[in-house]
Amino acid sequence: MKYKLNLVLAPTVIITTLIITGCGSSSSGTSTPTGTDSSLSAEQELGKKLFFDVSLSSEGNQSCADCHSPSSGFADPVATQAAPVSEGSVTGEFGNRNAPTSSYAAFIPDFSKTSSLTDGGTTSHYQGGQFLDGRALDLIEQAKGPFLNPVEMNNSDAAEVVTKVASASYADDFLSVYGATALDDTDTAYTNIATSIAAFEESAEMSPFSSKFDAWRAGKYSLTASEDRGLQLFMNDAKCANCHTLALPPESAANDETIFSDFNYFNIGVPVNPSNPSSDIDIGLAANSNIDAADVAI
Ligand code: HEC
Ligand code: HEC
Repeated sequence: MKYKLNLVLAPTVIITTLIITGCGSSSSGTSTPTGTDSSLSAEQELGKKLFFDVSLSSEGNQSCADCHSPSSGFADPVATQAAPVSEGSVTGEFGNRNAPTSSYAAFIPDFSKTSSLTDGGTTSHYQGGQFLDGRALDLIEQAKGPFLNPVEMNNSDAAEVVTKVASASYADDFLSVYGATALDDTDTAYTNIATSIAAFEESAEMSPFSSKFDAWRAGKYSLTASEDRGLQLFMNDAKCANCHTLALPPESAANDETIFSDFNYFNIGVPVNPSNPSSDIDIGLAANSNIDAADVAI
């Protein structure tokens, strides 16, 4: 089979090797979509409670944070080379992709198609969106997915999730943020559940900008000779920064964040992982039902 377009993207690529070494530097607090303050608003506090609530899964054993754990940079703490994809609330159910970090997802632009004029005529490409194929427009649409996904939190419908929130210890918080009747209509309540989680994901707690690289950008850390060689390779000969874009001082403003992605889609030829319970070829963007049919020829 030949694919004209078989593109897989991690729109948010957090480089944990090479020049970023994970680090625990204490220099957090650069600006995020909600500002420099690391304290949470009432809506974000509520979103955090929803994000960590295992009762919002069919078996009462899984929250968003089980696959996006703060202990492992909001990615899956138990993913290994031998078991690369996450297990759902129901034992033995696995998705086909590993859990990317939810950190910095707030910086991914909405899914869109962009056209530009080149020598050869008009060319178009897709960019942004949540999930590795961009099938969710934004964070709010994304957060509606996992609760109902049979290989994730496996609720039967939105009403089941809303009922659980209505009997949760933080139900009053929900009403005080969204109004006294906020749990009466299922669709509105479900959208607000997702909106609240998205607000938490926009907080500095989810996107701390606390790596050694961030400290260096802020002038608070000097790269070692080896780290500097890595940075030069990354930007120049190895061409990593062609796709994992960097905004470096002094050209960029201090609050111009770098999350190492241009948000575009590329086929970089990643083969099927034999340890993945799903042996299907992942056609990425080509399976996104929001792209124009004319752009896919399978
Ligand atoms: C069983 C594990 C699991 C659970 C539970 C889970 N996720 Fe995910 N998450 C994933 C996987 C796998 C992907 C990538 C799926 C894809 O691209 O098709 C993902 C993707 C994402 C993304 C997109 C990141 C990006 O770079 O595009 C965000 C944001 C996210 N999840 C947030 C959440 C939230 C919020 C919840 C709870 C409502 C949640 N996840 C529950 C496994 C999980
Ligand atoms: C043509 C664009 C392109 C170039 C050039 C490129 N990458 Fe990537 N990179 C990607 C894409 C697309 C992915 C996501 C692949 C996937 O999810 O299947 C990725 C994924 C990664 C990841 C995994 C991130 C994660 O969150 O799992 C790392 C690390 C990485 N690249 C480092 C590099 C380095 C180092 C270089 C230079 C030697 C480089 N890349 C060059 C496009 C590129």
